[in-house]
Amino acid sequence: MQATATERVIVPARNIEGSLRLPGDKSISHRYALLGGMAEGTTKLTNFSTGADCASSLGCVEALGARVTRNGSAVEIVGVGGHFTAPTEPLDCGNSGSTMRMLAGLLAGQRGTFTLVGDASLSRRPMERVRKPLMQMGAHVELTEGHAPMTIRGGSVAGLDYATPVPSAQVKTAVLFAGIQAQGTTTVHESVRTRDHGELALRAFGVSVERSRDSVSVKGPQTLRAIEAEVPGDISSAAFFLCAAALFPGSNLIFDALGLNPTRATLLDVLTALGAHIGVLNLEEKNGELVGTVQVNAPQGGLSGTTISGALSAQLIDELPVLAAIGPYTQSGIRIRDAKELRVKESDRIALVAANLRAMGAEVEEFEDGLDVRGGQTLHGAEINSGGDHRIAMAFSVAALRAQGETLIRGAESAAISFPEFFDLLERVAVR
Ligand code: S3P
Repeated sequence: MQATATERVIVPARNIEGSLRLPGDKSISHRYALLGGMAEGTTKLTNFSTGADCASSLGCVEALGARVTRNGSAVEIVGVGGHFTAPTEPLDCGNSGSTMRMLAGLLAGQRGTFTLVGDASLSRRPMERVRKPLMQMGAHVELTEGHAPMTIRGGSVAGLDYATPVPSAQVKTAVLFAGIQAQGTTTVHESVRTRDHGELALRAFGVSVERSRDSVSVKGPQTLRAIEAEVPGDISSAAFFLCAAALFPGSNLIFDALGLNPTRATLLDVLTALGAHIGVLNLEEKNGELVGTVQVNAPQGGLSGTTISGALSAQLIDELPVLAAIGPYTQSGIRIRDAKELRVKESDRIALVAANLRAMGAEVEEFEDGLDVRGGQTLHGAEINSGGDHRIAMAFSVAALRAQGETLIRGAESAAISFPEFFDLLERVAVR
């Protein structure tokens, strides 16, 4: 099979073996980049995410007056000390919803007019969810039919008590980022506890943050102080390899310095429930984030099956495409519900997962908020349409490892949005 520069051929594997140290977590890298840009002093980061998304966050803070120097995964940011300068050009958030939504929170408290733009995919994604709370805090935010371009006229903002209607760590973080510049207390209540990197990053930058079981508060105004930090390995990138290793009896894969924040590590529980053997060693805390070594071995008799719904779906939102993609190889299948947010990610991930599973010969039923992927199926190699979505390209590269025949991943270059090293590392650990 021949591949062009934007395609990748995946040859089936016999096993997965090796040890990996992954680039820094995307969610944490974004937050450190944005807060580092605003802070007083020089933030020094190592193992910063190598993905294009986090480069968008760095590009934006640079355009707002921070000084950024980068040497591979080492990044230094001389922050603006609390006051951004409004640029003449729009701020380009690329493909990154995290950049646009969380930066909007910081800009809400800044004097000036700021326009945020993104690529075609980002320009289709819902932004009303950040506009609403930021307007309530006193910022002026304009959208185009609920989407980017977003224009923010920021300035003095007031504290807000806000219950997020959709579980979203990006929205929670945006409100808290505005809250540190507001007069008074800002509280975000969540019905489902989403990833807490925003809270932990604020604390690392010297902000006092109060937490209860279902809410988080900051009292403004507070200043940010630069940090020195090593970003933990990205567990959502590890997910593709964890799932791949879980498919091959006899596999053995080890990850060093992997981020294991409990609000992100639910996949390890799901894989354990499916029968995989997961070991965690050398657990340490760095800037409030847990980091450790993880070992995965597949069960001899294959993976069982499971239903993912309710709060679990929100916690596993970035891992659901790969879990669905390995569903046919489980005994009783993977059922996913309460995940309609998947439809408004970088692509409609429910529709694309269903279409690509079918292209590989699987039976799958699609629902508005999820999928039923029957277990005990044999897949054949196929042409996969990633829709330019990094997680679809990587999820189906994993499914392809156990298929009969070769698979062509179209739009494979999109992996670089979060994980440029993905295909090279896959080749390193795949035993043929
Ligand atoms: C993220 C939160 C999630 C996730 C995204 C990163 C974050 O998005 O899907 O990849 O870093 O806060 P939502 O906040 O839209 O759920």
